[in-house]
Amino acid sequence: MKIKTNNYYLKNEWYIALSSEELKKNQVLSVKRFGMDIVFWRDSKNEVHAADARCPHRGANLGLGNVVNDCLQCPYHGFLFDGDGKALLIPSLGKSAKINPHYRAKSYRVKEFMNFIFIWYGEGEPYKKITWLDGIDESFSYLTMKAVWNVNYTRAIENQLDVSHLPFVHKTTIGRGGKTLVNGPVVELQNNAINVWVCNEVDTGQKPKKPDEIDKNGCTGRLQFIFPNYWQNIISNKLRIMAAFVPQDEYSTIIYIRLYQKFLKIPLLDGLFNRLMMYFNKIVLNQDKNVVESQYPKISDIRNRELLVYSDLPIILYRKYMYKNLEQNDF
Ligand code: FES
Ligand SMILES: [Fe+2]
Repeated sequence: MKIKTNNYYLKNEWYIALSSEELKKNQVLSVKRFGMDIVFWRDSKNEVHAADARCPHRGANLGLGNVVNDCLQCPYHGFLFDGDGKALLIPSLGKSAKINPHYRAKSYRVKEFMNFIFIWYGEGEPYKKITWLDGIDESFSYLTMKAVWNVNYTRAIENQLDVSHLPFVHKTTIGRGGKTLVNGPVVELQNNAINVWVCNEVDTGQKPKKPDEIDKNGCTGRLQFIFPNYWQNIISNKLRIMAAFVPQDEYSTIIYIRLYQKFLKIPLLDGLFNRLMMYFNKIVLNQDKNVVESQYPKISDIRNRELLVYSDLPIILYRKYMYKNLEQNDF
């Protein structure tokens, strides 16, 4: 088994890269994603585009540029690039010049969906559709927050699939009640989604139930992870906590947390509720951050030399999928 990469980015996948509100009309934004500088811009028609931030002319950062005629203009010598990265104008050659197609920036395919900006990380044209999280649609109201963790994105994802840490890391918040015993968990991998039913209990000396002894309907909740980088906690049909784990580079991850709810629809009150819930989420997330940043190594051990136990089944499944799919990476 040879995994040539050590950053663990799955290739040929749609990754959430930005939250839509971060990029306004006619705005240019240079960010680090997958260890690379990538520039995003939104044109006057609201279309989002992305390209390698290094200008192919003489390496200026295109993030300092502007949107001009729905193209991206380099701040240095004014080359104008379209959404495909093609240079449409090289000012020093004059407006009448026919530009050799070899003058181009490396562009990326992007899509906007559910107010997230997705980027196709791979080669060639995207051949997959975006898979979305069960049940979340435009009828929810939401609030977004982001945090930066100094870990590889795999560690952050595994933390959200970890069902036995709650009574320890979150003993003052969502893990109150000391439910240290993990029944199951029931875990299913279907296509590119992992579903986990959480059925933890207070330990009174009973044996944990095996997955096939568990009634899913009696579980306290369901977690769902969609490869490569987003997740939700299904608290109820009308309340979800959603997260995207966006790799800046090998050792740094932006976590976008979204609270989605649709049971409170009274103007102002819904906003207040969302902010209160988000305040609580921030506390919970910081409890996680503390301990996940302490893990060593900072990249998940997908070769499984950690001494895992039964309750780590969701993590084992995540690692198996990563292992199998990274093997096919050839870059
Ligand atoms: S460096 Fe971009 S146009 Fe010269
Ligand atoms: Fe947690």
